[in-house]
Amino acid sequence: MEEIDHEDAESTHLRSLVTAEADGDERAVEAALRPRTLDEVVGQQRVREQLGLVLEAARRRERTPDHVLLSGPPGLGKTTLAMIIAAEMSAPLRLTSGPALTHAGDLAAILSGMNEGDVLFVDEIHRTARPAEEMLYMAMEDFRVDVVIGKGPGATAIPLEIPPFTLVGATTRAGLLPGPLRDRFGFTAHLEFYEPAELDLIVRRSADLLGVEVTRDGSAEIAGRSRGTPRIANRLLRRVRDWAQVRADGVVTLEAARAALDLYEVDESGLDRLDRGVLDVLCRRFGGGPVGVSTLAVAVGEERETVEEVAEPFLVRNGLLARTPRGRVATPAAWAHLGLTPPPGTGDTALFDG
Ligand SMILES: Nc1ncnc2c1ncn2[C@@H]1O[C@H](COP(=O)(O)OP(=O)(O)OP(=O)(O)O)[C@@H](O)[C@H]1O
Ligand SMILES: [Mg+2]
Repeated sequence: MEEIDHEDAESTHLRSLVTAEADGDERAVEAALRPRTLDEVVGQQRVREQLGLVLEAARRRERTPDHVLLSGPPGLGKTTLAMIIAAEMSAPLRLTSGPALTHAGDLAAILSGMNEGDVLFVDEIHRTARPAEEMLYMAMEDFRVDVVIGKGPGATAIPLEIPPFTLVGATTRAGLLPGPLRDRFGFTAHLEFYEPAELDLIVRRSADLLGVEVTRDGSAEIAGRSRGTPRIANRLLRRVRDWAQVRADGVVTLEAARAALDLYEVDESGLDRLDRGVLDVLCRRFGGGPVGVSTLAVAVGEERETVEEVAEPFLVRNGLLARTPRGRVATPAAWAHLGLTPPPGTGDTALFDG
C-alpha cells in the first residue's frame, strides 16, 4: 500500500544534500539503517521512555496499546518508531498514508482486513480526505464503522466490526490535524531535533552497519553539519564515504568529511548554497534588512516559496534570520557566519520584537 517511487534519489544534482525529506531509493537505503527496537533508538529520551511505558503496560494487560500520534519534522524517526511499535508488540504492521485515503471506501477496505492487535500506520495522516477521516474517528473510538453501500435514497449503511487495533499516525504538521482526530490518540510523541552528540552516535552506528570505518572527529564533523536530523546525517555519511573510497583509503576521517562536504557545499553549520545565498544577499545587498521575502527571493533567483519553505525554517531555527513584521532581518549570528561585521545597531532588541 505504501507508494514508493523509484526515482534516482541518490542523485544529488537536483536536490540539496541537506533537505530533510527523502524520496525514491533513499527510503530503501534507509531501511537498512533503521533501529529495530526502542533500545536501539538513539536520542529522543523522553519519547522513548513514554512510548516504552505505553507498550509495556499494554503487554501486561494483554491489550492493544492506545493509538499513538508521532509528530515532528521530516527525517527525525516517525516511520522508524511506527515500525518499532509493531515490532515491540510482535504485531503485523500495515502501512498506508493520508494521501492514499481519498475515499471512505479506501479505509474500509483496509480496516475490513485487519486482525486483532494489528498496527495500522497512517503516514502523513494530516492529508487524509475528509470522509475517510470521519470513518477513522469511528474506527479509533468504537472499533466499528458504517460502510455505506449505494447512493442517494437507496443507500444503506452496513455496520462493520473491527477487531481492536492500534493506529499509529505520523505527521509533520500536527497543527493541521482536526481536534476530534487529535483527541482520539491516547499518546502523542513530539520528536525533537537531535543534539550533535546524538547525531554523532547515529553516524557511528550507521557507519558500522555500512561496514565503513569512521574516526571520532570524522563522525563529529558529519554530525555537526546534519541540521539536527538523522536522515541528513546518514546521507552525508554516504557522500563522505564515497569521497573517502574514491579519493583516499576509505576511512571517514575529519579531512574526508571536510573535503567531501565542502565539495557538496554543505558548510560547518549544515547550511547549503541556498541558505548561504539568502544570508549573503540579506547582509551584503540589503544591509541586513528588513527586506520583504519576495524581494529576497528575486535577489537569490529563487521562487518565494522555496526561500520561505526550504531555506528560512532552518535559518530561523538557528537564530541566523528573523521574520519581523517589516521583513526579514539578519541576526548578528548571520553576519558572524559570513565573516562580516554587522553595522552598528544590528541586533537591537526593538528590531526583533513583535
Ligand atoms: N533515533 C534514531 N536513531 C537512529 N537512527 C535514526 C533515528 N531516527 C531516525 N533515524 C534514521 O533516520 C532515517 C529517517 O528516519 P524516518 O524515516 O523514521 O523519519 P520520518 O520522521 O519518518 O521522516 P518523514 O517525515 O520524511 O517520513 C532512517 O533511516 C533512520 O535510520
Ligand atoms: Mg516517515
